[in-house]
Amino acid sequence: MRYSRVFYKFYASVSEYRVRALGKVNVMDPAQDLAIREKVGFLGSGNMAQAIAEGLIKTGTIPAANIIASSPSQKSSAKWVGLGAKHTNNNVDVIEQSDVIFIAVKPHLVDVAINSWRIDGSHRAPSKLFISVVAGTTVETLEEKLNGITLDPRVVRAMTNTPMTVGAGCSVYSGGRKATQQDLHLVKRLLSAGGICEEVPQNLINAIGALAGSGPAFVS
Ligand SMILES: NC(=O)c1ccc[n+]([C@@H]2O[C@H](COP(=O)([O-])OP(=O)(O)OC[C@H]3O[C@@H](n4cnc5c(N)ncnc54)[C@H](OP(=O)(O)O)[C@@H]3O)[C@@H](O)[C@H]2O)c1
Repeated sequence: MRYSRVFYKFYASVSEYRVRALGKVNVMDPAQDLAIREKVGFLGSGNMAQAIAEGLIKTGTIPAANIIASSPSQKSSAKWVGLGAKHTNNNVDVIEQSDVIFIAVKPHLVDVAINSWRIDGSHRAPSKLFISVVAGTTVETLEEKLNGITLDPRVVRAMTNTPMTVGAGCSVYSGGRKATQQDLHLVKRLLSAGGICEEVPQNLINAIGALAGSGPAFVS
């Protein structure tokens, strides 16, 4: 019953987005909770990372100065700087300077991105919260990969979509074994900045992710 509500809310969100996309409604509602103090990093600075970051910044959920994103190339650098956030070519900067780290690279690059930290020699660092938006990679796989790098990795797997940029995203998330209630609460606040957001069991993430992923195409 609860999950049919998630699907319903998703469709409601898409319909609302259609109205907003027509320019009839002010897209952003700045009336959010007080800004979150945690520093937020993105491994991968492409479409998905930008959509999440824009939602966070435009709603005042996170000050732009507390956001940093990395990628090997400079392709997206101007976009991040334009938002008031930092961009780096070094993944280690992101991991070291952030309390919460979004993993937003293509699935085949997760190991490369995470292992930058190990290569740098600073592995087994204090626990940080990792939020993965990588399609198809389970929370258990992520925990295993991160275990060599940080003690008791706190991992949350999320699936979201690019309408987050305009506050019309649809996100779901599921916590790993070490993710605390506080972590889950924080993830909810972060992802809610860009639209609707619900906690679901992990076995529903792929299905809801596919639905959410097709949402923007449905709207256009
Ligand atoms: N787009 C969506 O609607 C959507 C929805 C749900 C989930 N996702 C998931 O989100 C993830 C990212 O998708 P996307 O659409 O944002 O892809 P994207 O636009 O291609 O962005 C990928 C980013 O990863 C960077 N990157 C490549 N190698 C890296 C490395 N070793 N370390 C750090 N960063 C690296 C790329 O940098 P360069 O530009 O320098 O190559 C680029 O900034 C994927 O796993 C996808 O499954 C996407």
